[in-house]
Amino acid sequence: MSANNRPPGHQTTYDSAFLKACRREPVPHTPVWFMRQAGRSLPEYLKVREGIPMLESCMRPDLVTEITLQPVRRHKVDAAIYFSDIVVPLKAIGIDLDIKPGVGPVVAEPIRTRADLARLRDLSPEDVWYVTEAMGMLTGELGGTPLIGFAGAPFTLASYLVEGGPSRNHENTKALMYGDPQLWADLLDRLAEITAAFLKVQIEAGASAVQLFDSWVGALAPADYRRSVMPASVKVFEAVASYGVPRIHFGVGTGELLGLMGEAGADVVGVDWRVPLDEAARRVGPGKALQGNLDPAVLFSTPEAVESKTREVLDAAAGLEGHVFNLGHGVLPTTDPDALTRLVAYVHERTAR
Ligand code: CP3
Repeated sequence: MSANNRPPGHQTTYDSAFLKACRREPVPHTPVWFMRQAGRSLPEYLKVREGIPMLESCMRPDLVTEITLQPVRRHKVDAAIYFSDIVVPLKAIGIDLDIKPGVGPVVAEPIRTRADLARLRDLSPEDVWYVTEAMGMLTGELGGTPLIGFAGAPFTLASYLVEGGPSRNHENTKALMYGDPQLWADLLDRLAEITAAFLKVQIEAGASAVQLFDSWVGALAPADYRRSVMPASVKVFEAVASYGVPRIHFGVGTGELLGLMGEAGADVVGVDWRVPLDEAARRVGPGKALQGNLDPAVLFSTPEAVESKTREVLDAAAGLEGHVFNLGHGVLPTTDPDALTRLVAYVHERTAR
């Protein structure tokens, strides 16, 4: 790709280790970033967030910029992830919801009927003007460090909307999926359109890569995933394919779904800690990079144990064409920030070529 037809966010980041690994090109070292690296336990994060509700902080470009940069400065990770939440686009189109500390997203009136669907209107760039503004500031500050944009995948968003909040068993969601397949398909299609529009805003504003978080999709059997969920995720990936920025697809407990998640169209498949990366590569098939997959709970152990578990991940990834080191799920809230800083340095040192 020549410099002048590169996507907006690639002008200065194209040759970064992170984007090279996503493209399965040789890298100077294995790139590292952490899901949920922004926010969480950093003292500098808690300080700037003092007295400001989560959703409000997502709508303030100055705060978003600062919080997104904090883990890059502190840990020297190879990519920044934009500070926001998967429910921000839903809030932006007028869904009455809040993020409750320690709980997660809570929706005032769950979406369960055909009439409810009408509340999910199209998302336009003006609805999320603060994202465009913050990303403009961020890409300037980040220089050669790529910025990852993200969105919640249709299934995971549907789960919050149908349940009305976090759910262990997703029973209302599955009741709708099995009980009214047409309404379910229409709901997921609507969410795919909103999600695609939201990712486009981010790529146009300078995101160098995008990650689709289907965090709770591991609750599904492969046949149900293929029939009732995959078409909507395919639609999202197709909608942003022409930009040429790497698309990452992640879920938790997806060992049985890895092949289908690769088929859905991503360039990089995120793997949790339950499946070693060499086995994950067999399940995903050729032509995809992998991201992962240290168990985030390992960071609570001794530095020696962290190093030994990290070596296991790197050894399993040794034969892969593209590997982005990450945790198998997000950073846990009480993780010692120094353990993350040490982990980045260790992966860089071990994999320096
Ligand atoms: O990765 C990052 O650091 C960027 C920011 C980010 C947040 N949420 C900030 C946040 C990202 C990428 C997310 C994604 C997200 N949000 C997911 C997918 C990732 C995953 O973990 O599987 C999901 C399922 C959500 C929904 C959500 N938002 C939950 C379950 C919670 C509460 C529990 C928790 O993890 O803290 C939130 C709140 C939230 N999102 C906070 C932050 C910093 C905490 C806000 C607060 O309590 O003040």
